[in-house]
Amino acid sequence: MKYQGLIFDLDGVLCSTDRYHYQAWKQLADEEGLSFDWEMNTKLRGVSRRESFEIILSENGKKFSEDEIERCITIKNAYYQKLLEQITEDDMSSEVRETLVRLKEAGLKLAVGSSSKNAGLILKQLDGNKYFDEIVDGTQITHSKPDPEVFIKAGERLGVPATQCLVIEDAPSGVQAAKAAGMDSAGIGAAAEPGLATYQLGRFKDLITYVL
Ligand code: BG6
Ligand code: MG
Repeated sequence: MKYQGLIFDLDGVLCSTDRYHYQAWKQLADEEGLSFDWEMNTKLRGVSRRESFEIILSENGKKFSEDEIERCITIKNAYYQKLLEQITEDDMSSEVRETLVRLKEAGLKLAVGSSSKNAGLILKQLDGNKYFDEIVDGTQITHSKPDPEVFIKAGERLGVPATQCLVIEDAPSGVQAAKAAGMDSAGIGAAAEPGLATYQLGRFKDLITYVL
């Protein structure tokens, strides 16, 4: 097998939280008099909370002080965490679960590599921790994607060299991070555009054909 370690992004790969991020940012943006739409939301995939808000401000041609930024991202996260209460085990599909089990049974090491500081909470609600040998999330890194830190750390924790790691991503920023880490990538959703990732996944279980 070419790959010994698989590193999965969480949001948009193992489950879908896009609509909750959208709703929380939208509520905050409305309160702050900022414009925000779905197109802007897609630009925030893979990017940290603070950098996401900086993108929103820049799209609006606005500058906020450090204190204001901190206040706004704290409010957004409170809205987001309230929405996350709705997440249940049903939000991780049986296709994802069955594929993870097959890959693990084949002897591959599996990790999560996410920019989210809420990854622990989300995985707990999904009952998803049990599939993974290592979890590296936004609480353990100083630079978020497209910086390679999260994937480099995950590869090290798995004890697998970068050239034998495959990253599974839905965000162009995540594919860039994988490349910068010296790792191949499999793109799903927006990251499955030709020319971005090493492999394009039409659906999650296609991963099996590329790695086993
Ligand atoms: C990533 C999401 O997984 O986590 C981004 O794709 C999000 O949209 C980022 O901004 C940070 O998330 P959180 O949960 O720490 O606010
Ligand atoms: Mg993602």
